[in-house]
Amino acid sequence: MTTKKTTEHLPFGEKRDPRFFGEDILSVRQFDRGRLGTLFAVAGEMRGMVERVGTFDLLKGKVLTNLFYEPSTRTSSSFVAAIERLGGSVVQINNVTYSSVSKGESLPDTVRTLESYSDAIVLRHPEKGAAAEAAAAARKPIINAGDGPGEHPTQALLDAYTIVEEMGALDGLTVTMLGDLKHGRTVHSLARLLALYNTKINYVSPESLAMPPELVAEIDEAGVGQMHTADLGAVLADTDVLYVTRIQKERFESPADYDAVSGSYVITGETISRAKANMIVMHPLPRVGEIAEEVDSDPRAAYFRQMEYGMYVRMALLALVLGRA
Ligand code: NCD
Repeated sequence: MTTKKTTEHLPFGEKRDPRFFGEDILSVRQFDRGRLGTLFAVAGEMRGMVERVGTFDLLKGKVLTNLFYEPSTRTSSSFVAAIERLGGSVVQINNVTYSSVSKGESLPDTVRTLESYSDAIVLRHPEKGAAAEAAAAARKPIINAGDGPGEHPTQALLDAYTIVEEMGALDGLTVTMLGDLKHGRTVHSLARLLALYNTKINYVSPESLAMPPELVAEIDEAGVGQMHTADLGAVLADTDVLYVTRIQKERFESPADYDAVSGSYVITGETISRAKANMIVMHPLPRVGEIAEEVDSDPRAAYFRQMEYGMYVRMALLALVLGRA
């Protein structure tokens, strides 16, 4: 875990959480139950404030950079909404082909440039480890918004918050992850967070898209029960949270490899008619056919609510990292 030095002076008596301030957020490995509890409590306060006043001045004067080398709708725009609802502003670079990156500028140089103008950088990049590389070059906090097939910590934080809000707790739940578990960074991060709790994880995927073995070994060490199957029917009835993911087309070596597995699973009204009455269906989105639209009207469909929780969690994270929670 890295904690940044800061030259900023705080007014006497201003409170900040020493466990978050100035920190790079690179992996969910930086979190334990205590830190999650703090984050979720602040996210709850953020929700209350948004409902009451909409926008407020907690991070007035702070500037965030959003630096996205891969497409994004939710992650990028929810960080924009988060900093703006906190009274700060954003430098938005979500098409690096129009920046000096297209002239061959390195990631460290790009990051050093943008941190000259802002207080923290949210980075999405196609390579695993890119956020760590950026953090090593930067003086300001780097928030990993997805490093290739590596991690997507802020998504997992909002996923865990969604589960707590919807199901009451994380302990005692059976979570079934479905889809592209090999390339899906959100499930890599979420599995690590679930391992902090008394949970059971089922992995449902074609053999070729199974959870990476080193990650399975890591979760196993934490004492969490894991089960692999290609058949959703084998685990559906016991599932409390069904976490559906997209097959990550952009991470396949050839279109033929993708075609061989695309459309492997589709959740329909019939599927969830076989699931628990009080379970939830989640998805980091975008969906490209894995969940039929007929599921959307079922109260168990939590994926649209999940997006809103995401803004509160990102507001909480920004407030904690920038020191004004
Ligand atoms: C995810 C991602 O980028 O990893 N999207 C997101 O941030 N909500 C999931 C995906 O692209 O399939």
